[in-house]
Amino acid sequence: MTKPTLFLTRPLPEPVMAGIPARYELISDPPDRPPSPVELKQGFARADAVICTLSDRIDADLLSHAPRLKIVANYAVGYNNIDLAAARSRHIVVTNTPDVLTDSTADLTWALLLAVARRVVEGDRWIRTGTWPGWAPTQMLGSDVSGKTLGIVGMGRIGQAVAQRGAVFRMPVIYAGRRRVPAPLDLPWEWQPLDAVLAKSDFLSLHVPLTDMTRHLIGPRELTLMKPTAYLVNTSRGPVIDEAALVSALEAGTIAGAGLDVYEQEPTVCAGLISLPNVVLLPHLGSATLETRVRMGLICLDNIAAVLGGRPALNRVN
Ligand code: DGY
Repeated sequence: MTKPTLFLTRPLPEPVMAGIPARYELISDPPDRPPSPVELKQGFARADAVICTLSDRIDADLLSHAPRLKIVANYAVGYNNIDLAAARSRHIVVTNTPDVLTDSTADLTWALLLAVARRVVEGDRWIRTGTWPGWAPTQMLGSDVSGKTLGIVGMGRIGQAVAQRGAVFRMPVIYAGRRRVPAPLDLPWEWQPLDAVLAKSDFLSLHVPLTDMTRHLIGPRELTLMKPTAYLVNTSRGPVIDEAALVSALEAGTIAGAGLDVYEQEPTVCAGLISLPNVVLLPHLGSATLETRVRMGLICLDNIAAVLGGRPALNRVN
């Protein structure tokens, strides 16, 4: 019996790759770089199932050249890279990888928050220049984190996981978003309108999906509402922030600093951000632990097995 065909746009961690040949015919060995538009089209043309990543743009034209395709398993929790309506109109199931990356993304959010507040990366850079003169009372002063107000925009799974970690730092949590979530027992979480969250937060962390509603959710007006001592952290999607407005706000001292894992035009990072000392920049590492990336791959394979086996997908988003 012939195996179903699978197109992978990028190589996945070895434990995921190891399970593929027994169940699927891999259309081609995926290159360790983004596929070209031609490679994408060739892969989609022959695939029963596809595993793609957040940087692959899966649009209506590409889907119209995929006559046998049953499922696109996006190797990410976010799926703004896929035209869901076009997929639905062709009866192609789209799935994502929720839950399994919640902790790793929340942990990385905290790594950014602490790094920018306590100037960790600046300090590391200084040591490496060999010019550190030794301890001094006024040297590299950052900001307290413990006891400060943590603002969350988007209180979904990852927003809640970030908020939970705030309890260890005795931080009151205020949040904005469509959903009101019950606070875990004894935790001071309070829903407030976005403008109030902007104005009151000492640390503001973004956890909304990228949609037409959230594109440039944080722009010049919102940045002006923030405290000059506040820090902005983004591990969601780059276009949620108007990056040019953020650079101006950081240069002008409208806010104190930013920790960013995502950018408006990935992989390009605007020069204005790169030249600022009060910004910590990471290369979209939210889910980048071996354990998480293996779990993400296995979920993709489970969804594919379900759909090709005639069962409902586990994580359908369209
Ligand atoms: C996702 O899965 O959407 C994350 O951005 C990956 O790191």
